[in-house]
Amino acid sequence: MKKNKTKLFYIENYGCQMNVSDSEIITSILLKNGYVLSESLEKANIILLNACSIREKAELTIKKRLEQLQYLKKEKDKKTIFGVVGCFSIPIKNFLFKEKIIDFLVNPDSYKEISNIISYAMMGKKYFFIENKNETYADIIPFHLNKNKITTFLSITRGCNNMCTFCIVPFTRGREKSSNPYFIINECKRLYKNGYKEITLLGQNVDSYRWNENFLNENIKKIEIDFSNLLYLIAKEIPFMRIRFSTSNPHDMSDKVLKVISKFPNICKHIHLPVQSGSNKILKLMNRKYTREKYLSLIHKIKTIIPECSISHDIITGFCNEEEKDHKDTISLMNEVKYNYGYMFYYSSRPGTYAYRKLKDNVPINVKKKRLKEIIDLQKKHSFFRMKKYLGEVQEVLIEGESKKDSQYWYGRNTQNIVVVFPKKNNKIGDIAFVKITKTTSATLIGK
Ligand code: 5AD
Ligand code: SF4
Repeated sequence: MKKNKTKLFYIENYGCQMNVSDSEIITSILLKNGYVLSESLEKANIILLNACSIREKAELTIKKRLEQLQYLKKEKDKKTIFGVVGCFSIPIKNFLFKEKIIDFLVNPDSYKEISNIISYAMMGKKYFFIENKNETYADIIPFHLNKNKITTFLSITRGCNNMCTFCIVPFTRGREKSSNPYFIINECKRLYKNGYKEITLLGQNVDSYRWNENFLNENIKKIEIDFSNLLYLIAKEIPFMRIRFSTSNPHDMSDKVLKVISKFPNICKHIHLPVQSGSNKILKLMNRKYTREKYLSLIHKIKTIIPECSISHDIITGFCNEEEKDHKDTISLMNEVKYNYGYMFYYSSRPGTYAYRKLKDNVPINVKKKRLKEIIDLQKKHSFFRMKKYLGEVQEVLIEGESKKDSQYWYGRNTQNIVVVFPKKNNKIGDIAFVKITKTTSATLIGK
């Protein structure tokens, strides 16, 4: 009992869905090694911050949070260990070491070592950093932390080979590696047996998923599984599990994937397809490997093969050398696509990236922010335009929980990943409800 008390850990998550998924791997590793998951930060004596460094703002949030938490170190009779895991840039790593406000750092390829690292830190050995290469965690069953026990994430690839010039991910998460498909399918089956109804397959670029296996067999010499094969196998093996995936890189999305999505009702009809910019000049500077024309023809193909598919985006404003006419190109692309929703950011230069080293961050911050506001306002209009089409329609909604605004209402999502809220009746979390849409905002459908 006493042993457990000294190993109570708490993880605070920052950043993307991949970090949530990683926290589940870390939790699984720590539980196996005798650690106990603490529900509250104050009770824990091992505090882990799963950091994000994709934009400067995210790193500043981590810094601030760590400073805020220092009071816990001063508590009497309790020795609190602080660790940062996840993605961090070299400057923040150096800052954390110099300031000595944490006990250790672990990068995303070294989570298998985390129990040893914490033990060392508890023994008083401090401030070290471990870096392994090529870890997929294929043999670790994640401890799914999502409280609703209905929807969850599963990583199928880690890292990224794309080297977009603005992006720190290839440096923090390393080269791309795919997990074993047998493990992925078994994990999906296990989750379904345990009551889960929806799984989101995660990767920085799921469309480049690839698994090769060679056999010393006369008949089958080689097996190659790509993302379309993987989707097909999961959808076929577990027909009542909803399947989502994120993120798709326009450069790698194949017709085969689109056909599999259209064939299976349990694969959700939504594609997150970051465009980043509508200007060919900027796409080239970003090393995105597609043109505006190719992107638009992919959108056309999606709408032809899967007419009901919703599409969302990521866009960056104010990238290096972005002029007013490039910004106008982004606006005109948005007007052509009329996305269902999107995530928008102004460019922040990240240490180590090509853009940081070789290009000038020469768009003034007020211009970056002005352009960002313009595209956010435009996206709101487009979202509302798309949402209005649902009025009067009946949507199939997986109930995920109680609405945050009103406990008399459920909230869930339809196949297109649009949030729907509606009054509770004789249904429960995990049920499918058929909801008639009566009202809408730009982000939520309301029905009965
Ligand atoms: N500055 C601003 N936004 C960025 N993103 C990635 N790197 C940066 C950066 N340096 C955005 C991209 C990506 C999303 C996850 O974050 O739009 O698709
Ligand atoms: Fe970053 Fe580009 Fe890889 Fe996405 S595809 S993680 S933006 S390098």
